[in-house]
Amino acid sequence: MSDPVMLITGASRGIGAATARAAAADGYRLALLARSAESLSPLVDELGADTALALPCDITSWPDLSAAVQRVEDRFGRLDAAFANAGMSVPTSFLGNGGAGPEQWREMILTNVYGAAITARAALPALVRTQGHLLLTGSNAGRGIRPGNLYSATKWAVTALAQNIRAECVGTGVRVTLIQPGMVETDMTAATRDVPKLRPEDIANAVRYALGQPPGVDVNELTIRPTGQHPER
Ligand SMILES: NC(=O)c1ccc[n+]([C@@H]2O[C@H](COP(=O)([O-])OP(=O)(O)OC[C@H]3O[C@@H](n4cnc5c(N)ncnc54)[C@H](OP(=O)(O)O)[C@@H]3O)[C@@H](O)[C@H]2O)c1
Repeated sequence: MSDPVMLITGASRGIGAATARAAAADGYRLALLARSAESLSPLVDELGADTALALPCDITSWPDLSAAVQRVEDRFGRLDAAFANAGMSVPTSFLGNGGAGPEQWREMILTNVYGAAITARAALPALVRTQGHLLLTGSNAGRGIRPGNLYSATKWAVTALAQNIRAECVGTGVRVTLIQPGMVETDMTAATRDVPKLRPEDIANAVRYALGQPPGVDVNELTIRPTGQHPER
């Protein structure tokens, strides 16, 4: 069999880029998605053009995303894993006590919920053909209550997405894993200081663990939090 192929959204930095490096070390060929070619080109240069393909794509656009998956199959001939990882966060308050204005809420919902859902929709027909693996980045915030926090609600939606997709995939051989990080040191959390954080590589290792199981083992959910993280974070 030729080397397996993995598509990663949000691959230009943070958790997605760390996962791309780990997957390349494990022998995957990679389709790397983010909104601009410029943001992806350093990682493609690092991994090599034979291993990594940059696919500039806004994951909130169905035409862009479905065309990107088609390009992966055209270039590599197969798709074995897709990591729906891209996401964003803005602070919110339903009482209006600061945070981003409601017009900025739309992009977060579209990216975190619609983007993850249509990534699954675009990738799953190809994953069914290979009996492949869909992974989604939810969050520890998608399991608990955070006062006024719409980001948390979008990640609750990702938790439900993973469960509902897995239920529909029964009988296809496709595995579905929800990765739920606690606080990770990336651009997204740069403003949050003096709290314990994981490294992006720690989440890449969780992805690696799920991918590395035998075909009959479907790791449904992995929650990875830094030691000592506050229970409400
Ligand atoms: N960091 C944490 O503590 C933490 C904890 C739990 C869960 N998470 C989740 O982990 C995932 C990755 O976050 P991160 O911490 O690695 O953040 P990050 O460093 O800010 O990276 C976010 C990635 O998503 C991409 N992206 C954002 N919007 C996009 C869009 N519309 N279309 C395509 N790509 C888009 C960005 O690429 P471009 O800007 O180059 O397009 C970038 O590659 C997110 O789903 C986040 O919610 C993070």
